Amino acid sequence: MKVTVCIGSGCHVKGSRKIIHRLQEMISKGNLPCEIELEACFCQGRCTEGVVIRIDDEIITGVSTENIENIVLTRLKNK
Ligand code: FES
Repeated sequence: MKVTVCIGSGCHVKGSRKIIHRLQEMISKGNLPCEIELEACFCQGRCTEGVVIRIDDEIITGVSTENIENIVLTRLKNK
């Protein structure tokens, strides 16, 4: 599963760096049911809805350090 986090200025201000750290923690624990490929991207044109991430081809907005784990785990379960 590929997770891409927007690091454009709008999402950066809303905490995309913390979200990347959180994802790296999840990956390094190594107990996820499938591999996550983590990438960063520039502005996705939805800055007001940030933080914006993409999981495979699905765009997800309003991501925070509070909900990132749930978002990823839910998608992993549906794989
Ligand atoms: S900066 Fe993330 S959508 Fe624009």
